Amino acid sequence: MGINTELLHGYPVIDPYTGASSIPKYQTSTFNQQSVGESPEYSYTRFGNPTVSALEEGIKKLENSEYGLAFSSGMAAISNVLMLLKSGDHVIFPLEVYGGTCQFATQVLPNYNIEASFLDMSSLDTIERNIQKNTKMIYIETPSNPLLKVSDIRKITALADKYNLLTVADNTFMTSLYQKPLDLGVDIVVESMTKFINGHSDVVGGLAATNNKSLYEKLFLFQKNFGGILGVEDSWLVLRGMKTMGLRMEKSIQNAKIIAEFLSKHSKIKKVFYPTLTEHKDSSVHAQQSENGGAVLSFEVNSEDILKQFIKKMKIPIYAVSLGGVETIVSHPATMSHACLTPEEREEQGVTNTLLRMSCGIEDIKDLLLDIEKALN
Ligand SMILES: Cc1ncc(COP(=O)(O)O)c(C=O)c1O
Repeated sequence: MGINTELLHGYPVIDPYTGASSIPKYQTSTFNQQSVGESPEYSYTRFGNPTVSALEEGIKKLENSEYGLAFSSGMAAISNVLMLLKSGDHVIFPLEVYGGTCQFATQVLPNYNIEASFLDMSSLDTIERNIQKNTKMIYIETPSNPLLKVSDIRKITALADKYNLLTVADNTFMTSLYQKPLDLGVDIVVESMTKFINGHSDVVGGLAATNNKSLYEKLFLFQKNFGGILGVEDSWLVLRGMKTMGLRMEKSIQNAKIIAEFLSKHSKIKKVFYPTLTEHKDSSVHAQQSENGGAVLSFEVNSEDILKQFIKKMKIPIYAVSLGGVETIVSHPATMSHACLTPEEREEQGVTNTLLRMSCGIEDIKDLLLDIEKALN
């Protein structure tokens, strides 16, 4: 079965208790027990709930994994996974890792005596040279945010195997519909379900998935003890969003590809960043591990004045933080996702003031192109 069929029929999408064609919201914190000393399947919603479990079955299908966990945000999933590290450990992140992960690594992990390095992960040599005696984890994010830099998942996992390191991949941009980190050798995949999986800009959620039982057991304990399980209502919304994920993403990706090509020929655009454009330095690496370029692109306009006019004049996209919704979302990394970095750090990463990121929605492409063209001119 194809993944779109699987996401509609390949896990308990029918409620096993009532036959309802949509898993109900089991909106309860606790469950009645019949006798003393029972170990019921469900006892308290922070430990598990049938609506959340249904979503976790869906996560397993999507990720092609043995185990899946739903968290209250992408950051809850990421921070729980990073808490697998112990005092004295060292972890390697991409230089342009998502801002929240960067903040957690620089402002929270040091409290637990956990050290982090931020590297250009498109270079395998750089990674290998920076592996220390205490390195325990390599954290991958490809394509990266916002410049869509690509790192080679297979080669990084092979390197990690050589040094017996754990690998984690944040797969939020591509999702496992189009890039399957676990199949490429990664130990744990994390994704913000706030983005393409839910897809309607109305839920904050995250997932972690793995094929390793012992890692799952540790993460399950964290989910329970840090208390970051996804709520019932949000799990239900994500379950609903997931059913149309394939259709939505197909259209968004088609739009992104057309817009990337259109912008790369426009006189007011300095540079376009999109992983399947031939001018992308690592487009061949991306093609070996992903089925397409995804629905996110970024571009530099010729001046700050053009940027301001563009944001003011565009009518269809919303100008906001986030990505992965059915509507096109334009954001300004320098003042949004990367505002917590110093100007020098942004400069080092290539996040200029004239850079915009666009997460393409499912609008009619002719309307989007017309709107972009008018706003640029
Ligand atoms: C790549 C990436 N990872 C993780 C996150 C965090 O997700 P959440 O906002 O659901 O916590 C984001 C949010 O923008 C993101 O872009």
